[in-house]
Amino acid sequence: MNMNDIIYKKREGGALDPEEIEYFVNGYTNGSIPDYQAAALLMAIFFRKMSREETYALTKAMKNSGDVVDLSEIAGIKVDKHSTGGVGDKTTLIVGPLAAACGVPIAKMSGRGLGFTGGTVDKMESIPGFRTTMEANEFISLVNRVGLSVIGQTAHIAPADKKLYSLRDVTSTVDNLSLITSSIMSKKLASGSDVIVLDVKCGSGAFMERFEDACELGELMVEIGKADGKRTIAIITDMSQPLGLAVGNSLEVIEAIETLKGRGPKDITELSLRLASYMIYAGEKASSPEEGYQMASEALENGTALLKLTEFITGQGGDPKVIEDYTLFPRPSCFSEIHSEVGGFVGTIEARAIGLASQHSGAGRATKEDLIDLSAGIMLYKKVGDFIKKGDLLATVYGNDQARVDKGAQEAAAAFLIQNSKPEENDLVKRVLQ
Ligand code: URA
Repeated sequence: MNMNDIIYKKREGGALDPEEIEYFVNGYTNGSIPDYQAAALLMAIFFRKMSREETYALTKAMKNSGDVVDLSEIAGIKVDKHSTGGVGDKTTLIVGPLAAACGVPIAKMSGRGLGFTGGTVDKMESIPGFRTTMEANEFISLVNRVGLSVIGQTAHIAPADKKLYSLRDVTSTVDNLSLITSSIMSKKLASGSDVIVLDVKCGSGAFMERFEDACELGELMVEIGKADGKRTIAIITDMSQPLGLAVGNSLEVIEAIETLKGRGPKDITELSLRLASYMIYAGEKASSPEEGYQMASEALENGTALLKLTEFITGQGGDPKVIEDYTLFPRPSCFSEIHSEVGGFVGTIEARAIGLASQHSGAGRATKEDLIDLSAGIMLYKKVGDFIKKGDLLATVYGNDQARVDKGAQEAAAAFLIQNSKPEENDLVKRVLQ
């Protein structure tokens, strides 16, 4: 077998055999296949596409390129939740405690933010003392003791994806159905949970802007999850505006805490309850998603989910006093306010533009090596559909470098579209695939 023939076959629209796909994945991971040949194949896949069988073979080869985690020492049905990436998406910090408070063990590996989307690991690191790396035995014993642990993904999980994702990022080959599916599912299938609940984002702040494309991605991931023996559910959710009101690491953790105190924005509260309901149901702690929703609502109302968050933070070395005292989070020294120049209804808040503005204010990284400012980000005061008067405060951008904050504010201001008529409301949960 040789790489040139494999590239040629795909370039001409042929279907690759599992052996050819495995040869490519293993060779690229161990360095025997160079970047230029891998890049050529990625571009051929981008244009010629892959069948479901090829996508499954690619996912399987990528999953097996590193460790496959064994979580059998954790009692019960372990449930993982994964978001395809959005702006202001802090749901892991809410649904983790909600589902764990209802008895579902959560042993989760999360990523860092890149580009306009944030990552849970960065968010958690804004809690003083919080550790996102630990040995496997400590991770497992935390889940057994607390019911919930979230750590950064180790370099040994799906190393093929680590290399391929970096290459896709610089060769304009990210937004391909098969490549996204294999990237996400290889990591999820290697991470060891029994059930995978996928939050597939759809809209201007997501990889998949069109509903049909998001459904196709969800369906393919569910099919591949099941083919690998994992119960997999995909929930297609709206990402046409940022989720909640906070964007940026410490700001989002504070909003997650507020949500678990019952004071969160409506959209983030509702989405968290819906995701948790499927996690509780698929984790067999409820006989239906509706019962799961009821249980999650009770855990929110009676404070057991907030207590679970406290235990989770303490277990990972973080200072639990942050729950009552938000001044313990990294603090910004600069800010810039955005006021509306006109009156009317908020018609659009471009999620991607807000994500980029937050990144440019210091909250995100353009390359994996960039350092980030955990205090930076954006607080929104209005959502789509709100009526505003001229001069109303729309958002505040925070950070520690006034020039960057001002640039972020300029970009964030352009993300708002104010119109005369009230826009139609978008469904938060658009479809559930299982
Ligand atoms: N998230 C991933 O992990 N991979 C992709 O390709 C897209 C989103």
